[in-house]
Amino acid sequence: MTKRVVTLAHYYTQPEIQQMADKVGDSLELSLYAREAEADIIVFAGVRFMAETAKILNPNATVILPDAGSTCSLVTQTDVTALKRWRDNHPDHVHVSYINSSAEHKALSDWIVTSRNVDDIIAHLYSEGKQVIFSPDRNMGAYLNYQYGYEMPLWSAVCEVHDKFNEVALNEALAAVKGNCHLIAHPESPLPVLKQAEYVGSTSGMLNWVKNYQGDVKDVIFVATEDGILYNMGLARPDLDLRQAPIYAGCQCNSCPYMKMNTVEAVKRAQQGIGLTIDYLTTAQMDAARLPIERMLDFSKRYSL
Ligand code: 13P
Ligand code: SF4
Repeated sequence: MTKRVVTLAHYYTQPEIQQMADKVGDSLELSLYAREAEADIIVFAGVRFMAETAKILNPNATVILPDAGSTCSLVTQTDVTALKRWRDNHPDHVHVSYINSSAEHKALSDWIVTSRNVDDIIAHLYSEGKQVIFSPDRNMGAYLNYQYGYEMPLWSAVCEVHDKFNEVALNEALAAVKGNCHLIAHPESPLPVLKQAEYVGSTSGMLNWVKNYQGDVKDVIFVATEDGILYNMGLARPDLDLRQAPIYAGCQCNSCPYMKMNTVEAVKRAQQGIGLTIDYLTTAQMDAARLPIERMLDFSKRYSL
């Protein structure tokens, strides 16, 4: 019998990869697609923590990552033994972890969040009188502490792509524009950049902001996130002047090297069953990591996030 293959792609993959996919989305949407997929094989054109999340949520499917090198700096910068010590040093706190984390890291967490629901989930925990520690993204945590007046202890890892957005280069670019400008940003960016943003949110959130933009089409819209999503934004609103926020003079490293490992050849091979099969997680590891993910998915469903 022919195998049912479902291909999922993140917005940061190249246009030709998105065109090969059955579904394109942000981390939350892709997790939900993976959980509901009636597939024998899920090809995950994204990065490894996303493919692992898909396997945890749909353990009967074979999940294949096209290139085994597609990691994420938030994962590689986090030593899980040190993380466990840090967590154990805060026994009265709820541990909230960003989905950009390994399965082992997730298993040490009480809640998983994505950039789509992090504000609401942490607000919910504080409304219940809880204290929170947040890992692994230091920039996202600093933004939440600043925006809502929390004092969450933070783990210290960064996205190597978003961490390069820089206030000085941004101010120069804003000053060089003659007319009006807007800035929208992903919360993995540094706080001085986020403080200037009109909108801070997930990849889907930023895409919706652009789709629904009602302002003057002559205004320049700077986008502080990985360059892949500019493709989706341009398709949705070809009438707008959308520009990626600058990094610093001479540097073009605003593209995620791990997402870009999903080449057409690698995805085609994965659709034939060749790639990194996510088969190394034990049932106990997957069960432990699934709990905080399902808590997030239930919360998001309850509040239609
Ligand atoms: P989203 O959840 O916004 O899609 O972000 C994932 C990611 O890796 C951003 O760098
Ligand atoms: Fe990780 Fe940053 Fe790449 Fe997203 S853009 S996958 S956070 S390295």
